Amino acid sequence: MKRIILLLSLIILVASCKDKKDTYEETDLAAESASQEHSGKALMEKYCYACHSPESGTRLAPPMSMVQMHYLEEGISKEDFVADIVNFVKEPTEEKARMYGAIRNFGLMPYQEFPDSVITQIAEYLYDAELPEMRGHGGGGMHGRGMGMGQNAQENTLAKTGMEIAQATQQQLGKNLMKAMEEGGPIYALDFCNVEAMPLTAEMEEEYNVEIKRVSDKNRNPDNAANKEEKYYITHFKQNIKESTEPAPVVIPKEGKSKFYYPIVTNKMCLQCHGKPEEMKPEVLQKIKELYPQDKALGYSENEVRGIWSIELEE
Ligand code: HEC
Ligand code: HEC
Repeated sequence: MKRIILLLSLIILVASCKDKKDTYEETDLAAESASQEHSGKALMEKYCYACHSPESGTRLAPPMSMVQMHYLEEGISKEDFVADIVNFVKEPTEEKARMYGAIRNFGLMPYQEFPDSVITQIAEYLYDAELPEMRGHGGGGMHGRGMGMGQNAQENTLAKTGMEIAQATQQQLGKNLMKAMEEGGPIYALDFCNVEAMPLTAEMEEEYNVEIKRVSDKNRNPDNAANKEEKYYITHFKQNIKESTEPAPVVIPKEGKSKFYYPIVTNKMCLQCHGKPEEMKPEVLQKIKELYPQDKALGYSENEVRGIWSIELEE
């Protein structure tokens, strides 16, 4: 008897679940589209307002209402609008850009890695959104007095802090590496790098209370692989070096935390462990293979981008 009751209640439970689902189906759809609108708005505030804020004091890019105006052509379909925005944000270039004035005032939008679904949801929201500054006037508000200076001042401070941390960490690593090389040659120094590079960096992180990474497109330590955004800036800095222009630190303001990128360039000394295999000592190569079976950090010459500093700064 007990068993039957149990079974019965189970059936009822299952059935009621199913019932619920059926009756909710329609409202689900409505709720979903409402929450989708909402999620696009929240995502825009989270990912885009760090620069596209509607408040002129903190703006590092034109307000979203201006962006919307430039992309909402007469009669454009939602699909095309979304595709245009996604196309630009996934890979901003001057050729694709339409807001020439904004590029003059703020520079081209820096490349940042956003998930595809995030850009799409934001663009879908943007198509229908009635943003405050759209009403009334036809823009021009972005050319606020002194605003550009505010932006530069903030970015300059971040860039300075980033450079200070990168240089201090570089010095710390370099000093210890040189000492190890002098004391025991490259094999000994390899063991040293293998054991000490991470803890030394961690010490600096603690001292400055930031996240410091040394990452590369051709990494030796599997933990130092560059992500998509970092790879983009590695390519950017390689281009700088190729054109013999002094690389400028890149600062990307993000929610509360900002990212800082700056290249790490090889000199002659580095080639003992990162050079062309045929020019390196066989025992050094052998030791590298033992310590890092997946090593990609060989084949460099002098004055090449070995990687970048990737530092997350708190504001
Ligand atoms: C780190 C700052 C920054 C962030 C964050 C940012 N942008 Fe931008 N964006 C800019 C700047 C600067 C411009 C103006 C220069 C330009 O047009 O490239 C711009 C311009 C644009 C344009 C117009 C491009 C044109 O000229 O046609 C679009 C579209 C755009 N942003 C979308 C977005 C979206 C969507 C997000 C959030 C997912 C976002 N941006 C986040 C800096 C940023
Ligand atoms: C004695 C050998 C040795 C020398 C010399 C050396 N490195 Fe390395 N390098 C290593 C080792 C080992 C690692 C991996 C460290 C780890 O496990 O975190 C490494 C890692 C790196 C990384 C982190 C990204 C990655 O590939 O894991 C960068 C960037 C780097 N080296 C740049 C340089 C530069 C620039 C120089 C010259 C100024 C240099 N190295 C000289 C052995 C060396």
